[in-house]
Amino acid sequence: MATQRTFSIIKPDGTKRNLTGAVNAVIEAAGLRIVAQKRILMTRAQAETFYAVHAARPFFGELCEFMTSGPVVVQVLEAENAIAKYREVMGATNPANAADGTIRKLFALSVGENTVHGSDAPETAAIEIAQFFAGNEIVG
Ligand code: CMP
Repeated sequence: MATQRTFSIIKPDGTKRNLTGAVNAVIEAAGLRIVAQKRILMTRAQAETFYAVHAARPFFGELCEFMTSGPVVVQVLEAENAIAKYREVMGATNPANAADGTIRKLFALSVGENTVHGSDAPETAAIEIAQFFAGNEIVG
């Protein structure tokens, strides 16, 4: 499989607990290369656009509130099979179900405050990357 890119967010519960470096260490140890990264405060509009697919869910308001509650680190990760690889490294959405050694097992607090986001498919990865990064900000 060719080199692939995925989009990652270290969420406010992670930045608040000063875990950016610890999360990045797990990412890099798994063979994913961080080819773009910036720390931002997401606006409400950015969060609502990003999570538009979840707009009808009962937790949508809470999710957008949380994602704008503090700094996040948005990233582009590169590897062979990066999307599936990062989903494996993150672990299950609910940390109670996450496997040992995964980021969410190690660090997540709850299904909402679950420390990281990763794209679920090539189409969404492309859309998510383009929402936060210009092409010349990604250096592989
Ligand atoms: P993420 O991968 O960022 O994509 C959607 C997010 O919604 C998910 O991670 C969770 O953090 C969040 N989420 C899913 N289920 C719930 C829930 N029941 N309550 C609050 N947040 C949730």
